[in-house]
Amino acid sequence: MLEIDGIHTYYGLSHVLHSLSLRVEKGEVVCLLGRNGAGKSTTMRSIMGLTPPRIGKILFKDESLIGMKPFRIARKGIGFVPDTREVFADLSIEENLEISERRFPERSLWDRSRAYELFPALKKIRSRKAGCLSGGERQMLTIARALVTNPDFLLLDEPTEGLAPLIVAMLEETIGEFRSLGLTVLLAEQNQKVALGLSDRAYIIDNGAIRWQGTVENLRENEPVRKKYLLV
Ligand SMILES: Nc1ncnc2c1ncn2[C@@H]1O[C@H](COP(=O)(O)OP(=O)(O)OP(=O)(O)O)[C@@H](O)[C@H]1O
Ligand SMILES: [Mg+2]
Repeated sequence: MLEIDGIHTYYGLSHVLHSLSLRVEKGEVVCLLGRNGAGKSTTMRSIMGLTPPRIGKILFKDESLIGMKPFRIARKGIGFVPDTREVFADLSIEENLEISERRFPERSLWDRSRAYELFPALKKIRSRKAGCLSGGERQMLTIARALVTNPDFLLLDEPTEGLAPLIVAMLEETIGEFRSLGLTVLLAEQNQKVALGLSDRAYIIDNGAIRWQGTVENLRENEPVRKKYLLV
């Protein structure tokens, strides 16, 4: 479904991604694991066209995303939950979801009421301004907002970072359900526990390059690799 081949991405003169390649097949949950500053968010920004790579290929459903504007990339069916958890602070939860809703003839699963079924806590406070939400509520809203655009591919950038354990457990359960809802997921994480519990395959990124890839079972057994790249 997604195929990244040899991308190099820069911030100005700073060369951040070095010939990075990865693939995600339809129906998979794949995690991109790496420490602080490894290049996880930059990989996601490269896919979304927010920081487009200078070299390399990105194909989504066999179509090149290179040179495409971020809003067009989103309309191809990619939902992005950025680490910034940006919401429209002056709008209510309900309004945030309303302006994000999008329907497609070929796939129209999600709307506000479906999103509220997934996150009942949001429904109770749906008239509250998004600027007044807790970290966990805000993260639920950013995920719900991505879902109501009806993507078939979801990019989640450290969705559980900095949240209370109870909220983390709830989000883990929700993300675990995405596969059965027909979503393909690329999940960026520093938190091995969350990522390994949810994913089929893993890529380890360090200093802007993929250092290891394989199944989650293989990574669990490979302590040297986890020690080298993941444990802090
Ligand atoms: N806007 C920017 N301008 C310049 N350099 C940046 C910018 N954003 C990130 N970088 C640099 O690019 C590298 C990769 O950062 P990135 O945010 O992709 O890492 P990350 O794996 O997402 O880290 P974290 O786990 O902290 O979110 C880092 O060295 C970082 O300092
Ligand atoms: Mg990041």
